[in-house]
Amino acid sequence: MAIEIKIVSDSAALNRTAAQEFKNAAESAIADHGRFAVTLSGGNTPRIVYSLLAQEYKTVLPWNDVHIFFGDERSVPPDHPDSNYRMANEALLSHVPIPPENVHRILAELDPEPAAQEYEHQLHQFFHLADDTWPRFDLIMLGLGEDGHTASLFPGSSALQEKLRLVAPTWVEEKKTFRITLTYPVLNHAAEVEFLIAGAGKAEIVKNVLNSSQALVYPAQGVKPENGRLLWLLDQDAASLVSS
Ligand code: 6PG
Repeated sequence: MAIEIKIVSDSAALNRTAAQEFKNAAESAIADHGRFAVTLSGGNTPRIVYSLLAQEYKTVLPWNDVHIFFGDERSVPPDHPDSNYRMANEALLSHVPIPPENVHRILAELDPEPAAQEYEHQLHQFFHLADDTWPRFDLIMLGLGEDGHTASLFPGSSALQEKLRLVAPTWVEEKKTFRITLTYPVLNHAAEVEFLIAGAGKAEIVKNVLNSSQALVYPAQGVKPENGRLLWLLDQDAASLVSS
């Protein structure tokens, strides 16, 4: 699996490029199979991308054919300041004409295990999964933590070894909290996975992940779509230590 690395000048260019990538992926998926199933990432980096999507593509994209999922969620209610759903709703979902039933939220107000089971049920329903098959998202948007985590796959997490479940609850020691996350098999069955990474603070981990020859030191290294595009979208600050 070759990693496609796209480096743009600054965070503003990164946001514009990511919004364009989203639109392109959506139009391609809808033309191909009538719908676009995308998982949003949490954290700070994608927030402005989501706002751009609302501003620039509100009347451009066929939102009736767009289905929004989440790559992970913090174990909090949807109105909590830490909620990835709340961030996406404030930046994007509440500003575009997407049918409520097209927003597939992780019910993170439940305890982590039932929340993971319920989300797995949502995926089975939406993708009409037979046993032992995996959902194929059209686009999975991910970020990268400075410790090399992505989604809520953190170093040392038991979820890193999960090969059967689609969704797993996971205790994050450094955050002293539970999270719910898609697992590697789901991430690696996507048609496209896009890492969105900005800022000099990520330069060291970007270098370590991209240059590391060792198998799976950092969770982000485990994201290698088996039959899909892997795009690392970086601004120059985040890419400043990457050997060209
Ligand atoms: C989350 C994300 C997480 C995030 C990274 C990077 O729930 O926070 O899924 O994996 O993408 O922590 O976050 P920043 O974009 O804020 O640096």
